[in-house]
Amino acid sequence: MPFEYTKEGNNYKYLSNGKWQLSVSNKFISVLNPVDNSLVGKIQDVSKKEIDEVFKIAKSSQLQWQEIPVNKRAEILHKAADLMLKNKLIIAEILMKEIAKPKSAAINEVERTADLIKYTAEEGLRISGEIVEGQCFYKNEKRKTAFVNRVPFGVVLAISPFNYPINLSYSKVAPALISGNSVILKPSAQGAISVIYCAELFLEAGLLPGVLNIVTGNSSQIGDYLVSHKDVDMVAFTGSTEIGKRISSLAVMKPLLLELGGKDAAIILEDADLDLAVKECISGCFSYSGQRCTAIKRIIAVGNIGNKFSDKFVKEAEKLKVGKPEDNSNICCLINKKAVDYIQELVDDANKNGAKQLLFKTRKNNLIGPIVLDNINNKCRIYYEEQFGPVAVIIRVRDKNEAIKIVNDSEYGLQASIFTNNINDAFNIASKLNVGTVQINGKSDRGPDNLPFSCVKNSGLGTQGIKYSIEAMTRIKSIVLNLN
Ligand code: NAP
Ligand code: G3H
Repeated sequence: MPFEYTKEGNNYKYLSNGKWQLSVSNKFISVLNPVDNSLVGKIQDVSKKEIDEVFKIAKSSQLQWQEIPVNKRAEILHKAADLMLKNKLIIAEILMKEIAKPKSAAINEVERTADLIKYTAEEGLRISGEIVEGQCFYKNEKRKTAFVNRVPFGVVLAISPFNYPINLSYSKVAPALISGNSVILKPSAQGAISVIYCAELFLEAGLLPGVLNIVTGNSSQIGDYLVSHKDVDMVAFTGSTEIGKRISSLAVMKPLLLELGGKDAAIILEDADLDLAVKECISGCFSYSGQRCTAIKRIIAVGNIGNKFSDKFVKEAEKLKVGKPEDNSNICCLINKKAVDYIQELVDDANKNGAKQLLFKTRKNNLIGPIVLDNINNKCRIYYEEQFGPVAVIIRVRDKNEAIKIVNDSEYGLQASIFTNNINDAFNIASKLNVGTVQINGKSDRGPDNLPFSCVKNSGLGTQGIKYSIEAMTRIKSIVLNLN
């Protein structure tokens, strides 16, 4: 059973060629519980030589894997997903310890990912090509028929962030595998243990050795090496804009999927259903303590709705439970001290620059918030910068046009929400917002995971979402028959 193979003492191994290995570097990274800094476990700091070996294995096993019929690959994905569901409480327990995710959200992450894997397996069965006839094209005298297929890239390098370790790792692994790629997965150090646990479930499900490999280590040491490795055929990254930009500058001429930072706005129009808007904004701002790419990071209150909205919003924010992940608290510790210090810095700066602090509930060790700041203006850093924590920011504007301008005047463009009862306003505004997705009368949200998840500007490149991820992880190859 899992961990029997993946672990020796406190040390979690890396995965290469279907075997769990200890690095010869004899260097480790400690994964600490954000709640009390206790040791959850140590992961390997793999050497560059070991990385070369992993690439060699991933490359050769991919050639075998792509020959396995897609229905067999789908069967393995289904089995792995079933094993995840069977072990969901164990995985959720690790998530609580590694990343301080509240219990129900941790269980939800596992269930959601198992669903995603199963759906991906089914969607993979529908990857099909087409036949394109060329004889009707201008001045084409030959009769040409193209057999157009989708083929795998080869070795996909997947790099995932700390906040959804399971979901944002296996939403890359599943589409890559179903379409015949092999994968080298580098999870965030914080989150790696749950990712390792799930990889063992894939092996148990019958995955060919070497098709899924996991390397762990100090990103500043191995990150560039992985990304610029000659044997990488495609990179799928989720994380900060800063690292995403670095990766895009290194992965020259390699296909890229980048899911990066956000500054999602919720526009509240005067005719909005206030109860609904408040409920969605509370969840949007504070779920997983605001550590979601899609968290609502700006609330834009239009016209005279401002006071009514902020009164109701603060009353609800005050009710949020602050405490431990095991108690299903709404607000738990942030991932580390650096993250908490950054939130404090943004809040202090806003208070100095004219913000009205309506709520600041807790500050103890890695626990902070919930915080509500009103009257945020363009002198405050938090007006522009991505707060990755439990801070609701309210910006007051005169009218819809000013709201649209503020949403678009951002380096980010992930999602935006509009709360209104006027369908014409909703669609008119939605068409003018420069973001990947607009939600009408709902918080910004990635799921369900089969929906397209796309972005503009510094929020990333490409589109994810089961069918779209499969397309992004394959290329078109044509074989043309010339009939004379
Ligand atoms: P991060 O610091 O950028 O880290 C993301 C991943 O990159 C981790 O595995 C990290 O490893 C690794 N990494 C760090 N430096 C690297 C380098 N030089 N080369 C290669 N890999 C490197 O982001 P995070 O703090 O984990 O996640 C929070 C950010 O991700 C937020 O900005 C959030 O908005 C964004 N995010 C976006 C989406 C989306 O779908 N758009 C989803 C989730 C999160 P280590 O952690 O071990 O250093
Ligand atoms: O952090 C980014 C996640 O992909 C957000 O997913 O909107 O379903 O919470 P979510």
